[in-house]
Amino acid sequence: MDNKKKAVTQDKLVALCKSRGFIFPGSEIYGGFANTWDFGPVGVELKNNIKRSWWKRFVQESPDTYGIDAAILMNPRVWEASGHVASFGDPKMDCKNCKQRFRADTLIEAHSKGKVAAEAMTNEEMEKYIEEHDVKCPHCGVRNWTPIRKFNPMFVTSRGTLESDADKVYLRPETCQGEYVNFLNVQRTARAKVPFAIAQIGKSFRNEITPGNFLFRTVEFEQMELQRFCKESDSMDIYSEYKEKALKYIEDLGLKKENLRFHDHDKLAHYAKAACDIQFLFPMGWQELNGIHHRGTWDLSRHQEYSGKAMTYIDPFTGEKFIPNVIEYSIGADRLTFALMCEAYEEETLANGETRVVMHFHPAIAPYKVGILPLQKQQSEKAKEVYAKLSKKFMCDYDEAGSIGKRYRRQDEIGTPFCVTVDFDTLNDDTVTVRDRDSMEQIRLKIDELAAYIEKSLEF
Ligand code: GAP
Repeated sequence: MDNKKKAVTQDKLVALCKSRGFIFPGSEIYGGFANTWDFGPVGVELKNNIKRSWWKRFVQESPDTYGIDAAILMNPRVWEASGHVASFGDPKMDCKNCKQRFRADTLIEAHSKGKVAAEAMTNEEMEKYIEEHDVKCPHCGVRNWTPIRKFNPMFVTSRGTLESDADKVYLRPETCQGEYVNFLNVQRTARAKVPFAIAQIGKSFRNEITPGNFLFRTVEFEQMELQRFCKESDSMDIYSEYKEKALKYIEDLGLKKENLRFHDHDKLAHYAKAACDIQFLFPMGWQELNGIHHRGTWDLSRHQEYSGKAMTYIDPFTGEKFIPNVIEYSIGADRLTFALMCEAYEEETLANGETRVVMHFHPAIAPYKVGILPLQKQQSEKAKEVYAKLSKKFMCDYDEAGSIGKRYRRQDEIGTPFCVTVDFDTLNDDTVTVRDRDSMEQIRLKIDELAAYIEKSLEF
């Protein structure tokens, strides 16, 4: 990939996603439903592959990490224990003129072009900044704000047939609580020794005040979260280790070093000992891609207090009984999909002056691994045989519509690493042409050699 390729704009990416079947606006035939997105046939493969790559790296290849899949709807006491009912919330302000709602910290960060870290400010400091710097409403251009108030972004629903406060349940705003409440179950059944981790991938829901920027901030999204339970004395080393592991994972997937940076938090939650994001240079600027948090004993202690169950661990060697510290690593699957799409996109000018759009995905996450293209209709039957053989191992796309050049372009746009062309010679000698997406070089291989050749590129 050319290091100097131009950054993609969000509009171009959204248009490509729609035209090539990656991602469509949610409920589109009803005029859409703001900040919801539906993954199409190509996009669902991409996101599933990203989730698989995370699971492989952080569960399959990590002997002391155990995967779970907890329920989305949890006992409402969970959200009291976690602090979400009482204090989860963003600092919101309403414009009294046009009635639009904004996050005060986001307004300040946009106004200062990212130079002021609003997350470190109190509500009073943010109100003062907004007044002194004459921060106006981005919608109507007037400065006439309400005071900052906390807005609880948990979606509420009800269980049972009567809608009453007693039946109130929440759609989870983060997946990690399912990991905390299963600490004892997993530790016991896996006979796990501290340090060990619990991981899961699943949907979360937040009634965000300022959703937007495509997949960046949506009201329904998937999180890939991991909690490592450890002794306090090991916790800072494990925190540093996960910062590096998290960075290596996204670099291995294809995000470039120069588009990534650590952002250590100045302002910490009262229970936290350290927290950091990894930021990515999205089309709208540097923004959080994932978080690594040292949460001390807060979560397990709170669940112990609210559930009445001892969330303790007994060291089998020393007999010491303690509530483990938690290091959390959390990354949004949709946000990562967005980042990887931004990085992969290239408009390349070819030697003949034509332009091609190509998505340079790592083959392990590419939606389709191989496009199977008969050169002419006469080779369709043979090409379908190749498709039947390869599709037992990989996601394959079969395409016989249009010129071979157009078909190559279509595969480039969805990031298919290999195109296999079945031509007249194939019928005689069982060889095919294999075209590489990035170099566009072509080689001739036996049909029987294809699977091993493709397999090798998928290693991650
Ligand atoms: N359990 C900790 C937690 O949820 P967070 O920083 O609020 O921490 C973790 O979220 C990650 O989840 C973020 O770094 C981001 O990748 C993703 N995420 C959070 N809110 C999101 C939203 N509204 N839309 C898409 N992804 C989101």
